[in-house]
Amino acid sequence: MQRPLLVTDPGLVNTDAFRSVAATLGANSEGKTWFLYSGVHPNPVENDVRETAAAFQKNNCDGIIGLGGGSALDVAKAARLLVKRPRLDWTKFYDESDWSGLAPFVAIPTTAGTGSEVGRSSVIMLDATKRKAVIFHPELLAKLVILDPELTRGLPPKLTAATGADALTHCIESYTCPVFHPMCDGIALEGIHLIVDALPRAYKNGNDLDARGKMLVAAAMGAVAFQKDLGVVHSMAHPLSTICGMHHGLANALCLIAGMKFCAARKPGLYRRVGVACGLDVVKSSAADADQRTISFMKDFLADLGLNTKLRDHGVKPEQLDALVNQAIEDPCHKTNAVPVTRENFHELYQEVM
Ligand SMILES: [Fe+2]
Repeated sequence: MQRPLLVTDPGLVNTDAFRSVAATLGANSEGKTWFLYSGVHPNPVENDVRETAAAFQKNNCDGIIGLGGGSALDVAKAARLLVKRPRLDWTKFYDESDWSGLAPFVAIPTTAGTGSEVGRSSVIMLDATKRKAVIFHPELLAKLVILDPELTRGLPPKLTAATGADALTHCIESYTCPVFHPMCDGIALEGIHLIVDALPRAYKNGNDLDARGKMLVAAAMGAVAFQKDLGVVHSMAHPLSTICGMHHGLANALCLIAGMKFCAARKPGLYRRVGVACGLDVVKSSAADADQRTISFMKDFLADLGLNTKLRDHGVKPEQLDALVNQAIEDPCHKTNAVPVTRENFHELYQEVM
């Protein structure tokens, strides 16, 4: 790339991570030219993508560098679609088949959570539907991913915990989703093993670069694993972001234990190997005991990360329950959950974590 567009969010511009990448890109005086778009919202909207594509066109850029959490990476990724087809109607994205020749994309995550850097999709809130849409295409994949723990050093403990919980949920839900993909299963279980060791260390000491590095790798592994698919917890989490503006990782963390209990009750033994990955001696336990011990371990694990609060502690109101259920039942993730989920189930699950 000779004229890259660096895409990030406004909060990141004042961080060491941004300054480090900007210094690497160099100053214009050195003959290197790069441009900046820093308007990405925490839950990205269509306009973020439009503005990124416009900045790309205006500055005659030849590639995009996404720097940040999943939001910045998703916007950077998807803007290339709009560069190729400026009149694209997102609601008809899948009618279009030729997405070859997109501008090259370099992904540099500054959080260890979504794993968007290794994903082929972008999650964008569409104007037309006011919902998060998953824009999926293999051509969206990054040409280069840079996992540098130095860039996650400054991530505050709360965000370290919440984004890490997203990665953990990816690993647990993809492992337990009943799609046949033993490779993803192996990656998911090792991801859990890494997270159980590294997340508490990164949370307690942000400068622990070994822990930071392992979390970055585990987050990428979680996202590779969930190419299999996800489950009920993500279907509960998505509406909490669109309706209540909740951070995606936090939403997963608050719903994870209820989701695990729900699945284990209907499919005993589901979490035995998750427990083994956590270091628990549950190989010879009864199916119910293995699940119970694994879930109880996870509950304590999240509590130690400060993630044992309820939805109401984060401003979710009981009167929002119906809207949450309505969106959750339409979310595609639970279609591949370990067990089927009904509207009534969602109601009960939300109530449990309310
Ligand atoms: Fe997620």
